[in-house]
Order: sequence, then structure tokens, then C-alpha cells
Amino acid sequence: MRDLSREIRSQKKTIGLVPTMGYLHEGHLSLVRAARKECDIVAVSIFVNPAQFGEGEDLDRYPRDEKRDKQLLEKENTDVLFFPSDKEMYPEGYNTFVENKDPVSDILCGASRPGHFKGVTTVVAKLFNIISPDKSYFGQKDAQQAFIVKQMARDLDFPLEIKVMPTVREEDGLAMSSRNVYLSPDERKQALSIYEGLRKAEEKIMLGEVSSNVIKDGIKAVLKKNKDIKTDYVEIVSAEDLSPVDIIKGKTLIAVAAFVGKTRLIDNVVVKI
Ligand code: PAJ
Repeated sequence: MRDLSREIRSQKKTIGLVPTMGYLHEGHLSLVRAARKECDIVAVSIFVNPAQFGEGEDLDRYPRDEKRDKQLLEKENTDVLFFPSDKEMYPEGYNTFVENKDPVSDILCGASRPGHFKGVTTVVAKLFNIISPDKSYFGQKDAQQAFIVKQMARDLDFPLEIKVMPTVREEDGLAMSSRNVYLSPDERKQALSIYEGLRKAEEKIMLGEVSSNVIKDGIKAVLKKNKDIKTDYVEIVSAEDLSPVDIIKGKTLIAVAAFVGKTRLIDNVVVKI
């Protein structure tokens, strides 16, 4: 991969990288399309990164379908698919990790998944070093991840631009996720209330509600109506620096994580007032 990247760069072509864990859906493909528009060469990585999964999480059963992923990427005119093995990424004796120390890493998903972002920044730094992209594409669905990756690229002087693209949703509003495949039909129905809660919150804010607590309680109440949903967190933070806000003002991120049965889903919306 490094040799190929060097060759591409020697031809003065730009590389757009879309890092993924595979089991691709329209959310991933929207990033591929953005890269296709802006870069000469589109590279997609598929690697289910063990370092970002905690104990008892779904590493072993994370969905995989290499053949289907390849077909989807071919349809989008992807030039390069980087599909390393665990051993290639983390050979025996692997001991170096990249960790973001901003307190932002310890809130939201960082609080419920300790070590998760350390695994993310480590693997993304490795991918940046291996592939040397000019631009790399991330989804707003994982807003905190995008924020932390941006900081990492800035702090470690990675010579590239991080692009964050909008969340792609199913027709009824559920945010697309590789993990949606875990949901039973009944859970799938209940999962929709995550977005419903966020939409209602947005509406209330547009009608003048500024109290974070009121908005958070409203979302929790919507989630609570579902027998199989357990709220992990409902948080309201500044969209600029992810610091918690009590009074909603300016660009604000409303973020939810919830277990639907055993499946942990996240979603968020940004409101501007
Ligand atoms: P994965 O969950 O496969 O997601 C890969 C990229 O697709 C991420 O940037 C994510 O934010 C984006 N994405 C996922 N669902 C989306 C949706 N509905 N709309 C728009 N974008 C969406 O995130 C990871 O993998 C990993 O943590 C990774 C960055 C690859 C590091 O291992």
C-alpha cells in the first residue's frame, strides 16, 4: 500500500481516503462519492479495528461481507481498497498508541466506551501514515470521532484535510449504521425513536426552548416509551468544541447513545440558533 501510494503521489495525483470497518451502507458510500468528486484517486480501507472495541463489545460478531463491500466499491469507481489483516496492523510486539488527552475524549462515547477513542486515533494515524491521503472523509454521525480525529491530525501535523459529511439516514429517519443489521424487526421499529427524540428536541429549540435539561428530559421520555431501549447518554454540547452547555445558544450538538436490545446505536443533530 505504501509503494502504491508513493507511486500515485509521484504522478502528482491527490488521494482521498475513506476509513471504514466495512459492511458498507449508503453512509459509507456518501463519503466515497465525496472523495470521488474531490480527489484523483479514491482509497477505502476496511479494517475491523480490535483496538477500538472494549471487552464484552461486539468485535467477534461485527458484521463482515467482503464480497459485497468490494462490489459496492467497484460500482462507485473506487481505485484502491486497503484490506489489511489484524496481524499486519498489529504485529506481535505492537506497543505504540495515539491518545487524545482533551477531556472531550472522556465524555459522551468516551465515557461509556473507555479506550475506544485511543483505538480509533491509533488506527486512523496508522492509516494516514500508510496511505498518505490528501483528504480523509468522516461522517457526522460519529461527531465526536470526527472532532477527535481532526484534533489528532492538527496536533500531529498530518498534512491532510479532514472532511466531515452529513449523516445519511434510512427513509424513515434511522441513521444508517453497520450495526442496524443486529436489530430484530421489533427493535428496528423502536430504534426509530432515537431520531424521533432528536427531531422533537430540534423542534422545541426552534420554538424557543433553551434549557438543556428540559430538552434532554424530553428525549429521554421519548426513548423510555420503548420496552427494549436503554438510554446510554443524552447530551447537549457546543458543536464548536463539544463542551457541555446548560443554556442552548449558537451551534449546538444534541447527541444520543442508546441500547436497543443488545445493540448500541448513536445519533445526533446539530441545531443553530
Ligand atoms: P465505520 O463505523 O465503518 O464508519 C466509517 C465512516 O463512515 C465513519 O467516518 C462514520 O462516521 C461514517 N458513517 C457511518 N455511518 C454513517 C452515516 N449514516 N452517514 C454518514 N456517515 C456515516 O467509524 C468507523 O468505522 C471507525 O471508527 C474508523 C474511523 C474506520 C476507525 O476504525
